Amino acid sequence: MKFIVCENYDEMSKEAAKIVADLLKVKKDAILGLATGSTPIGLYKELISEYNAGNISFKDVKTFNLDEYYPINKDNDQSYYYFMNDNLFSHVDIDLNNTDIPNGEAADAEKECEDYEKRIAASAGVDIQILGIGQNGHIGFNEPDSELYMATHLTGLTENTIEANSRFFESIDLVPKSALTMGIGSIMKAKKIILLASGANKNEAIEALKNGMLTTNVPATMLKLHDDVVVICDKAAYGE
Ligand code: GLP
Repeated sequence: MKFIVCENYDEMSKEAAKIVADLLKVKKDAILGLATGSTPIGLYKELISEYNAGNISFKDVKTFNLDEYYPINKDNDQSYYYFMNDNLFSHVDIDLNNTDIPNGEAADAEKECEDYEKRIAASAGVDIQILGIGQNGHIGFNEPDSELYMATHLTGLTENTIEANSRFFESIDLVPKSALTMGIGSIMKAKKIILLASGANKNEAIEALKNGMLTTNVPATMLKLHDDVVVICDKAAYGE
């Protein structure tokens, strides 16, 4: 696990965008694993600028998203489906048929998870997986627990996450209590992983990545088993 400590959020976003843009320049049909939350928004803005400057194209790019609330309608402005269109897809030349997000409207959540995992497995494999991190160390919606899932699954959200994410909703009661998320195994299949963290509220979670221990109580520590993970964070998240 490599750490790149940046001065601030903008520098963090630029650093991550450079790695993704460099990939898209040499591999036009790259497969990207995408994340939501406030942290990757700056990265997506940078990629849109690169696209507008004619430096990269998403025409043949495929994407898989980490997670989605469940249940949630796609037209709910807090759905990750809405988020991806709003923050990236509608601004670039990506073919929406090449984008995939767990379906928060699926009648059968278990089946949707199985199908999603199969769709990832049937692809050529995620080249770069973008990750944010929860204050409690969750990745995707893999929450701290005594056991973690390998594959895409339906999960309950912890109180900590419901409260953290309630800032985006009109009231905490409107935050869905469950989600569909890639499992730790699905995430670890990516060839390269970029984890982004900004702000002092992420410091505790980042501290857990700096030592040599693994714990399911901080799911992101499992990433230490992957041989190509870059944590790009600002000084506040790193603890400087
Ligand atoms: C959500 C998402 C995660 C994200 C986390 C942190 O719970 N499921 O993928 O990393 O929030 O969000 P933020 O970047 O807004 O702090």
